[in-house]
Amino acid sequence: MKGKFIALEGPDGSGKSTMMNLINQYLVEHKIDHIVTREPGGTAIGEKIRHLIVDRDNDNMGPETEALLFAASRAQHVHEKILPALEDGKIVVCDRFLLSSLAYQGVGRGLGIEEVKAINDFGLRGTYPDLILFFHVDPEVTLLRKTKEGGDRLEAEGGMFHKGVYEGYMNLLKKYPENITVIDASKPIDEVYKQTVEAINNLLKFEEEKI
Ligand code: TYD
Repeated sequence: MKGKFIALEGPDGSGKSTMMNLINQYLVEHKIDHIVTREPGGTAIGEKIRHLIVDRDNDNMGPETEALLFAASRAQHVHEKILPALEDGKIVVCDRFLLSSLAYQGVGRGLGIEEVKAINDFGLRGTYPDLILFFHVDPEVTLLRKTKEGGDRLEAEGGMFHKGVYEGYMNLLKKYPENITVIDASKPIDEVYKQTVEAINNLLKFEEEKI
């Protein structure tokens, strides 16, 4: 049986990483065979690419180069880790996936959603999430949190860039609403967790019923 693919999406500082850990714990407790992974990175090759992308010394990187590096890291991730796990029947939970590139590179960098989707589709071989959890938080709040801590090359971009990313995500929610669940991540953590678990259970239960 084929597994299920869940991706977590949202602007920088939306609390995705905390929720990743809690989802992992939840799946362990319920003895659900799964892997957790993240982008950019997720594989040894991907981590090397990630280092190139986020390095603040690389501030002369062209937007097309950046988009292609994210797509290359993702292609390796699908090839080496995500697809084999799905074929094994596992649940794959991934911190960021294609939607991040569409919002950050497609809209934030102004390369175009369709253009960025096309270079990614080449590497994805039809592997798309069954469920996208979108962690929605007011962009001004999240940005303030991140810039205070310093941040990597992407996080260090100005407010205009992150505003573009946020608007990009909002457009994408309208464009691809089918398998996206919006989580109100401005709520206290236990409420965010409740919404998250509910969405995951809906996906898994639905699949059980179909069998
Ligand atoms: P990461 O360090 O994982 O940030 P976070 O913990 O906030 O998710 O990711 C580095 C940055 O890369 C982050 O600002 C989001 C950005 N990014 C893109 O611009 N495009 C992409 O396709 C992905 C996956 C991430």
